[in-house]
Amino acid sequence: MKILMIFVVLLLVSCDKDTTQNKKSSIALGKITFANNCATCHGDKAQSTVEDWRKPLPNGSYPAPPLNGTAHTWHHSPASLLGTINNGGKEFGGWMPAFKEKLSSDEKEALIDYIYDLWPQEIKEQYDKRFK
Ligand code: HEC
Repeated sequence: MKILMIFVVLLLVSCDKDTTQNKKSSIALGKITFANNCATCHGDKAQSTVEDWRKPLPNGSYPAPPLNGTAHTWHHSPASLLGTINNGGKEFGGWMPAFKEKLSSDEKEALIDYIYDLWPQEIKEQYDKRFK
């Protein structure tokens, strides 16, 4: 019985390590994907490229907001974030391009993991309570 318990504990520990490892490599993939596809508009650390993302650009459209937890991104479910990545901003009158055909589903999931990872701990906790 004791042996069995030890076995179960070891199994649980190794599973948990696997998940952490998977998350880590997903975040790493997300970081590269972000640098190659998103950073020009959203900033290299998703901090935006303008001082005030609430202020319209000279052409009247709104700049790309920060995704790092200082704006609205964490108010949206993972499914809704995926929707924005797939379809861009057209649905809400924006100009973000659609990435549906440009990125694989692994890359899109990885982007969401990467963006989540940028948020401060208390925002992650609120997000988890609401959406996970
Ligand atoms: C050409 C500029 C541009 C690129 C490239 C771009 N975005 Fe955006 N993004 C925007 C703009 C502008 C908005 C605000 C909505 C709009 O106007 O379309 C936005 C909005 C978003 C939002 C919603 C933010 C919120 O707080 O609700 C997410 C999420 C997002 N972008 C993720 C990404 C990801 C991930 C990539 C790379 C795959 C990316 N964007 C590439 C310009 C861009």
